[in-house]
Amino acid sequence: MKILVIHGPNLNLLGMREPEIYGHTTLEDINASLKARASEEGASINFLQSNHEGVLVDAIQEAATNQYDYIILNAGAFTHYSIAIRDAIAAIKPPVIEVHLSNIYQREEFRHHSVIAPVVMGQISGLGVESYMAALEAIIRKTKKR
Ligand code: DQA
Repeated sequence: MKILVIHGPNLNLLGMREPEIYGHTTLEDINASLKARASEEGASINFLQSNHEGVLVDAIQEAATNQYDYIILNAGAFTHYSIAIRDAIAAIKPPVIEVHLSNIYQREEFRHHSVIAPVVMGQISGLGVESYMAALEAIIRKTKKR
């Protein structure tokens, strides 16, 4: 099983960035926990972070070309307005799980709407680092049931 984890803009600053909202865990810590859990299951997992919309679009397209089975995506602020990322997700076969560290529905009004939500398999929001872990766990359980 091949999983790609894509982190969008400003997530490289995790740990320092608004810790009262996003916590103290760094992106490296998140990736390390996901990798450890995926390894237990013999799954291959890769990671990418970019602050650039086009790089994220390319990564989503390439995930399909490279036959990833699932994508875990935190699109950051692009969640709320990137039609290009939405269209990339809609264009590919591998299911995408949308994750957010914070509960986007408890925050500013402009974060309440996700333009990618209608084209993803599911969304996990507000569990902090556990949002990513829950997405990975869902993938593992779904794969085992097949
Ligand atoms: C976020 C929520 C977004 O609204 C915000 O722009 C982010 C992070 C989250 O993980 O909670 O950059 O996706």
